[in-house]
Amino acid sequence: MRLFVALALPENIRWQLRLLCGGLPGARWVPPENFHLTLRFIGEADGAELQDIDASLAGVRAPRFSLSLAGVGHFGSGSKLRSIWAGVAKQPALTHLRDKVESAVVRAGVEPQGQRFQPHVTLARSKGEPVPKLGEFLVQHNLFRSEPFEVTHFTLFSSFLNHNAAIYTPERSYELSRA
Ligand code: 2AM
Repeated sequence: MRLFVALALPENIRWQLRLLCGGLPGARWVPPENFHLTLRFIGEADGAELQDIDASLAGVRAPRFSLSLAGVGHFGSGSKLRSIWAGVAKQPALTHLRDKVESAVVRAGVEPQGQRFQPHVTLARSKGEPVPKLGEFLVQHNLFRSEPFEVTHFTLFSSFLNHNAAIYTPERSYELSRA
């Protein structure tokens, strides 16, 4: 199965994100129930690897924190546009958690990931379709800021890629400590 570690988002935040998802012909919007903030993409793992990753993630000790989503951006551009996303207001506790998750998955035998952590919530994906109004969308939502929300846990998800949309299933959830 295909695994990733992410923050699930509260319903009110998913609702706020949903209000951003419009006015952009050519965009393939992510269904609101699929909105999440990835901490670490793991990829294919078998049952034994899942057990090791779970045991290692269960050992992560990190405090709860407050988070706001802020601004919008994109990966790729023009005919190479890959995705449009909501960004995250600076929060060192998020980076701290992501570093602990990275160490935990590597301890469980997953290859280390060199990529810089660019926290985001994907709103739309594109496979080379033109999205001519992207510039207007970015200007219009530049000042987007969600209500702050409390991050109380993180989740190991499995992902099943259907031909229409991905189906994400929470496999395990890990509590963060009260400060
Ligand atoms: P994305 O939203 O930026 O596309 C489940 O697929 C999650 O894992 C998504 O949030 C996705 O990020 C991320 N993901 C999928 N494939 C990835 C890869 N090869 N490298 C890094 N992250 C990936």
